[in-house]
Amino acid sequence: MKLIFSIVLSLVSSFIFSQNDSFIPGKEWKDTNGVHINAHGGGIIFVNGVYYWYGEYKTAGRGGNTSLQGVSCYSSKDLYNWTNDGIVLRVENNPNSEITKGCIIERPKVAFNKKTGKYVMWFHLELKGQGYDAARAAVAISDNPKGPFKYIKSYRPNKGVWPMNFDDKFKSASIGEHQLKSWTPEWLEAIKNGMLVRRDFEKGQMSRDMTVYVDDNDKAYLIHAAEDNLTLHMSELSDDYLDFTEKWTRVAPAGHNEAPAVFKQDGVYYMITSGCTGWDPNEARSFSSKSIWGLWESLENPCVGKDAALTFHSQSTYVLPVQGKKGQFIFMADRWKPDNPIDGTYVWLPIQFDKGKPILKWFDKWDLDFYNN
Ligand code: GAL
Repeated sequence: MKLIFSIVLSLVSSFIFSQNDSFIPGKEWKDTNGVHINAHGGGIIFVNGVYYWYGEYKTAGRGGNTSLQGVSCYSSKDLYNWTNDGIVLRVENNPNSEITKGCIIERPKVAFNKKTGKYVMWFHLELKGQGYDAARAAVAISDNPKGPFKYIKSYRPNKGVWPMNFDDKFKSASIGEHQLKSWTPEWLEAIKNGMLVRRDFEKGQMSRDMTVYVDDNDKAYLIHAAEDNLTLHMSELSDDYLDFTEKWTRVAPAGHNEAPAVFKQDGVYYMITSGCTGWDPNEARSFSSKSIWGLWESLENPCVGKDAALTFHSQSTYVLPVQGKKGQFIFMADRWKPDNPIDGTYVWLPIQFDKGKPILKWFDKWDLDFYNN
């Protein structure tokens, strides 16, 4: 009896002591089974007291950035301790499926649609064997936050539709501009003036790194890296979040931004992005705007201190509003490990503000009490 009691006691105490009570950016983060969380390029929603974290399920080895399983989901009530709810959107074995095993699924973001009562997942899809050429936005749907999500379709947004406020004179191609040398001032000017918008007008605009932002009025937007990652597009989603309304604008034309994350504080919209250096980290950027449609003004690098020029060795993926702490946010980023993607870690930091500018400072360890100070 004594023995059983001490075994139970040690099990209970090991359970209690293995609980997380803080964020330790960049370090291994164990789920409630003691396994490193596998939800990269993720996004989080909050439903009835529970946070659901969706992300790319990576596997070991060089090929681990292609999707061999699908999109994973973890749930938590406190943001520190996460339970693995498994794969909620599964890749398919059918070689003709757009999401066949070995395709690329990146940056999944889920939004709950109050009108339809459905959970809608958008993600960046690359068709198997085509590198990053397809550049499609893909959508899946579920009745339940824990899935299963049913794949619907993928395509390039805004086919045959000009952006709002796009000058008429830029709608027709000017002869010879495609011969301009990349990165020259003339070439950048041609990009700003919509050279690649025109190129992709018939087949639809590209959609690589992306996020979904749901505004206070429940209107939702897909913000996606288009024009060969040179310009972000802000595309309004239809009321059921399953399609586009054809209202869209360009953000920071020729600014070369990816990894967008959008949030709103006191009626002002903010966006944090990265530059484009693949899996290698670079200097983050930030923007603010009074309207979702812009003009998005540059606020430059939000990071300060050591390694600020490399976003603390990470790349933005999402900005999470902290429940019960109005106007407070967590910056979520990935520290990619391309040689063994499953080992990638997460950098979560509190967003601070200084004179209307978001600020990110490194912490080896922090917790939600930060917001009480
Ligand atoms: C990054 C991007 C990632 C992934 C990677 C592939 O720039 O943010 O989501 O697409 O490139 O190299």
